[in-house]
Amino acid sequence: MGSVSATRIEPAGALVGHIAVPGDKSISHRAVLVGAIADGQTRISGFGRSADTEATVRAVRALGVEVVEEDVDTLQVHGVGLRGLTPPEDPIDAANAGTLLRLLSGILAGQRGRFELTGDESLRRRPIDRVAEPLARMGARVETSAGRPPIAIEGGDLHAIDYRLPVASAQVKSAVLLAGLYADGRTTVVEPVPTRDHTELMLAAAGASVRRRPSSVSIEPAERLELGTVEVPGDFSSAAPFVVAATLLPGSELTIHGVGLNPLRTGLLDVLDRMGARIIVFNRRRAGGEPVGDLEVHSAELTATSIAPEEVPRLVDELPLFALAAACARGESVVRGAQELRVKETDRIETVTTSLRALGIRIRDRDDGFGVRGVPSRPKGGGMGSAGDHRVAMLGAVAGLVSREGVALGGADAVAISFPGFFELLEEVAQR
Ligand code: S3P
Repeated sequence: MGSVSATRIEPAGALVGHIAVPGDKSISHRAVLVGAIADGQTRISGFGRSADTEATVRAVRALGVEVVEEDVDTLQVHGVGLRGLTPPEDPIDAANAGTLLRLLSGILAGQRGRFELTGDESLRRRPIDRVAEPLARMGARVETSAGRPPIAIEGGDLHAIDYRLPVASAQVKSAVLLAGLYADGRTTVVEPVPTRDHTELMLAAAGASVRRRPSSVSIEPAERLELGTVEVPGDFSSAAPFVVAATLLPGSELTIHGVGLNPLRTGLLDVLDRMGARIIVFNRRRAGGEPVGDLEVHSAELTATSIAPEEVPRLVDELPLFALAAACARGESVVRGAQELRVKETDRIETVTTSLRALGIRIRDRDDGFGVRGVPSRPKGGGMGSAGDHRVAMLGAVAGLVSREGVALGGADAVAISFPGFFELLEEVAQR
């Protein structure tokens, strides 16, 4: 790795300034998908434009929904009603977007006709049986390629089910709840551990009857949905690389404005807090039914901590960055119960441990996570590749900033999956 086309990330002194990050990817996908089956027009502001969310816009257009792009981050979705999607001739290409693939499967289970969904090489390696199985139980005809995409769905009248999630996955929960809109009674999903609840919040805002209990959520069949407007907050997962970099670089003072602070997403803040980080949350408010605030990050010296299985869903996408924070903290850190990392855009236990080891960090993989021996100083640096995984690319960039010798990062362009302007924003605040 560290190929000829690698991007050089030089060490930085500190991160200083004020920034905002693009709109939340999870919420942007949901706003387009729910807008597509709502009645009338949905206006989405703060839309997080990225390769993943553009795949969602293309998908609903292929299904007969008009989407008007008023501006780079403002969309109008002209909903066709709950049962108004029409099968396109060609399979729908979800590209790299697991959220699109899984949530749309739930919606298509309630439509008339046969729909086929596929994705890029990475997505075609990821499990879809976790969605196919409950949808088939509800009465949809579903075919997969040995549990992986492509997936073909023939929908229709669905039966309500009580479904206990075998894995803590917001995508699977969401697929079942969306299918529940079309069922003949109350559908209930029981969660082993709470996961992000953006679908529940948005469906309730659209007028669906959603009932929440501590470890389950139920939905009644819907007659119609109406979303109106959605204001998408900044993506906490896109803020996270800046939070970790500013924490690790001495002298940093970085403010990130308008970040989504849904408590089921902000596990990294709690973990960094117990490691000794200095992050102040202020200007707390609500936007589009979601908690939002500004983060002021000061650098700090960190001590090791461990992450228990119950904590994992609240920082699942930030665990690669946690590995780096732990590498620069005093003592041994362990992550357990994170086997879901193996079925993300890459096997992130493998890609994270291999890349960080190449930079001189002492990290070892476990079946269900990793263990890190932290040293409170800059890691050496070196070369690593993203393996096409956006979160690994951002990890490499932050590792380069906090390293002694810099990082030659292969496949840096993968950041565009969720955050096309990532490097430009980093350059704006990095002091050299
Ligand atoms: C997401 C849920 C999580 C997360 C992914 C986005 C969502 O996946 O890792 O980036 O928007 O619902 P799982 O549901 O597979 O855990």
